[in-house]
Amino acid sequence: MAVLVMRYLQKARLLWSANFKRPFRRAARSSISAGETDEQIVEPQEVLERRAALFPSMGGKEIGPFLRKLAREAPSNTAIVEVGSWLGAGTAQLALGLRERGEDQSVRIHTFDRWIASKSEVEKASRKAGLQFSPGEDTLPWVTEALRPFGVGIEFVKGDIAAIDWAAGPVSVYIDDASKAPSRFYHVLRTFGPFWIPGVTVIVMMDYHYWEKSGSEEHKCQKYFMEAHSQYFAQIEGFRRASNAAFLYCKKFDFARLDFNTLLAPSGK
Ligand SMILES: C[S@@+](CC[C@H](N)C(=O)[O-])C[C@H]1O[C@@H](n2cnc3c(N)ncnc32)[C@H](O)[C@@H]1O
Repeated sequence: MAVLVMRYLQKARLLWSANFKRPFRRAARSSISAGETDEQIVEPQEVLERRAALFPSMGGKEIGPFLRKLAREAPSNTAIVEVGSWLGAGTAQLALGLRERGEDQSVRIHTFDRWIASKSEVEKASRKAGLQFSPGEDTLPWVTEALRPFGVGIEFVKGDIAAIDWAAGPVSVYIDDASKAPSRFYHVLRTFGPFWIPGVTVIVMMDYHYWEKSGSEEHKCQKYFMEAHSQYFAQIEGFRRASNAAFLYCKKFDFARLDFNTLLAPSGK
């Protein structure tokens, strides 16, 4: 029985990899460089678009055109930060946008996740894309390989959000699909906020309206933060899909003085 199950799992993975026209292989690397060519044929954009469409997604694919545009238009020598990549659906969209920049590959994606499959993620990966993972499995090797053909610079940072630090310079695009609880959200704000560029940085919060579904007070922390600091952020009108919202960082805010309490309750403004 165990042998049959193993064979089934291997077959399902190979089938998916075949769609990507590459054999599945585990990778220990934590970054991919722009223009990396080891055994890689650079594929035309339309082939990569088809690859990107195959990623199982919890929202990143659905807002693909928006993410692509942000990556395509990001100022040179800035970073794109994505917190909560899962299996790389949004990362692939960002990678398509980076490719559209042509020669200017000075923008790198830094994507953060624990990449440990939870039970519900295992179920979603199977249902959405026929992928077979086991609960507790390290999914980063799969994600790294799936994104390698895009041939753009991607840094993978594996671990808990609470342990994230940042020293890679100005951030022009910040996408968050994981920090919906106050402590984690406070940590990412303190970590990345000082690197946001007034008038430039776009913040995509994929769980901004999640509280409407969960009913949890905790999940309102992003909304409470934005409402309390509304003079520093402008909501991007017309952009809402599912739980998502996007904001332009307009004016410099001193994140060192961020008050945790502003994430816990309405500001009373
Ligand atoms: C909703 S999924 C991201 C979906 C992805 N953006 C997409 O569009 O397909 C949330 C991800 O955040 C990660 N995550 C949640 N809490 C985390 C934490 N405390 N530390 C690290 N990663 C975390 C999970 O592992 C999961 O991959």
